[in-house]
Amino acid sequence: MFSHSAIRSLAAPSSRLFSSSSARHFKVAVLGAGGGIGQPLSLLLKQDPLVTSLSLYDIRGAPGVAADVSHVDTASEVNGYTADSLDAALEGAEVVVIPAGVPRKPGMTRDDLFNTNASIVRDLAAAIGRVAPKASVCIISNPVNSTVPIVAATLEKAGVFDPKRLFGVTTLDVVRAARFLAGITGASPADSAVTVVGGHSGATIVPLLSQTSKGKGVQGQTYEALVNRIQFGGDEVVKAKDGAGSATLSMAYAGAKFTNAVLRGLNGEKGVVTPTFVKSPLFADQGVDFFSSNVELGVNGVEKIHPIGELSAEEQKLMEACLPELKKNIEKGKAFVA
Ligand code: NAI
Repeated sequence: MFSHSAIRSLAAPSSRLFSSSSARHFKVAVLGAGGGIGQPLSLLLKQDPLVTSLSLYDIRGAPGVAADVSHVDTASEVNGYTADSLDAALEGAEVVVIPAGVPRKPGMTRDDLFNTNASIVRDLAAAIGRVAPKASVCIISNPVNSTVPIVAATLEKAGVFDPKRLFGVTTLDVVRAARFLAGITGASPADSAVTVVGGHSGATIVPLLSQTSKGKGVQGQTYEALVNRIQFGGDEVVKAKDGAGSATLSMAYAGAKFTNAVLRGLNGEKGVVTPTFVKSPLFADQGVDFFSSNVELGVNGVEKIHPIGELSAEEQKLMEACLPELKKNIEKGKAFVA
């Protein structure tokens, strides 16, 4: 049984995951809501006080997930949509989150998912361009380094691409970096935030540990191992799940956290800054026109793209490895749509 104070705290609207200064409320659509990420992500978004309406779409299973999630005692309404009702799911959506597509199996890289996921994401983007062209779109489907350029090019073809409203979700790298760093230093993860820049796969993931008070003291082999774990942390989960997929629960947490940041920005909150993979001028002169760095989110989506700041010698090397690979991934996405 719960004590009175426990009941009060369970009923309290705030949580560590979400913060809201409540003014406007938003309709959010999840495309791929029946999957390993989609289901817990939908549950977490049902708890976000900034969400009034939750549209859950998948080619299989979304009505069941919607019926289940809709019983959670928060104010938002939840509707489930089947394969033939994508347009209805997108109608009026202000934020669209996309975890649709196949996940990795052991031994696969994210790029191995390209053949299947590229067309899934392109077709969903075409529908967004038609039905919800002003929505902020958050891409979880891998390979993010290529799927984000695919969505951009598809929206561009439809004449509705707004670079301020398209985001690749790299939050899981940020979440992992804080958690793994805290594991080494013994500090709290809440005090161990690390800016992670670049892209979202292997060597394109560049954690800027030198810029954090907790991270800059990590040196030598411990540093090398920490960077490797942040870059390849996803492989730990793929291996442990042994063929059953990749990160879903931590990804749902990261996806809900990022979506809340987008919503807080749209809601007019100031100072919402987080790394995300966007159309970016930072390395465009080197042919890398999508890049993740700290981005300030606001009522128009991207308000400001922060430069990456001063790098240590190690981080400069990581950037040298990141940029050519990221360039290839971006070009592959663009070529698919062209
Ligand atoms: P899953 O296979 O469990 O779920 C995918 C869902 O997408 C399924 O329910 C499937 O029916 C649905 N789907 C397939 N085609 C669709 C379409 N055309 N329209 C709507 N829904 C469609 O996979 P899981 O584990 O949820 O992963 C989803 C994606 O997220 C994968 O590409 C995975 O690589 C990626 N991912 C991204 C991460 C990131 O940090 N950005 C981290 C972990 C995974």
